[in-house]
Amino acid sequence: MAFTVIRTTWAEHEPALRHIRDTVFIQEQHVPESLEWDGADEDSVHFIALDEQDNAIGCIRLLPSGQVSRLSVLEQHRNQGIGKALLIAAEEEARARDMKEIFLHAQTHATSFYENCGFSVTGGIFVEADIPHRQMFKELSAA
Ligand SMILES: CC(C)(COP(=O)(O)OP(=O)(O)OC[C@H]1O[C@@H](n2cnc3c(N)ncnc32)[C@H](O)[C@@H]1OP(=O)(O)O)[C@@H](O)C(=O)NCCC(=O)NCCS
Repeated sequence: MAFTVIRTTWAEHEPALRHIRDTVFIQEQHVPESLEWDGADEDSVHFIALDEQDNAIGCIRLLPSGQVSRLSVLEQHRNQGIGKALLIAAEEEARARDMKEIFLHAQTHATSFYENCGFSVTGGIFVEADIPHRQMFKELSAA
């Protein structure tokens, strides 16, 4: 399936971003709403994956700190390269902002997905929203 990734803001695409994250994190993974809507969205740059009919099917955000978070793809659209494309878009944004490193809190089931995209684990397992996580980072070269 063809898809495109667009760069956007919370102000421009709040309903679409809320729809994806509500479906994936709150309904599917049972993340409490108070943790999901953490107040960091207005300050983040967001990327959304759109299908051929312009439906929003995945998203990610990059915080000013260099943290990448909320990577999510609707279940019926997984394993088609959308998550990886969203992660690369956030990474390219960080490079354009001259960030030297990006980091994230990976759910432990997803660490091999991130390793596949060039991230390395640092530190041990910790729990967020009742889900085990590991911090991961990726150094960004100038290239
Ligand atoms: C994790 C997630 C974003 C991956 O998105 P996706 O669109 O299915 O992933 P992609 O199709 O881009 O996969 C890219 C590569 O990673 C692999 N991969 C995908 N999910 C994986 C997983 N859970 N574990 C290990 N590898 C995985 C794919 O096989 C693919 O490998 P390839 O490049 O060798 O072909 C998606 O499964 C998701 O939304 N999960 C629920 C929310 C979540 O857990 N988010 C992560 C929070 S830390």
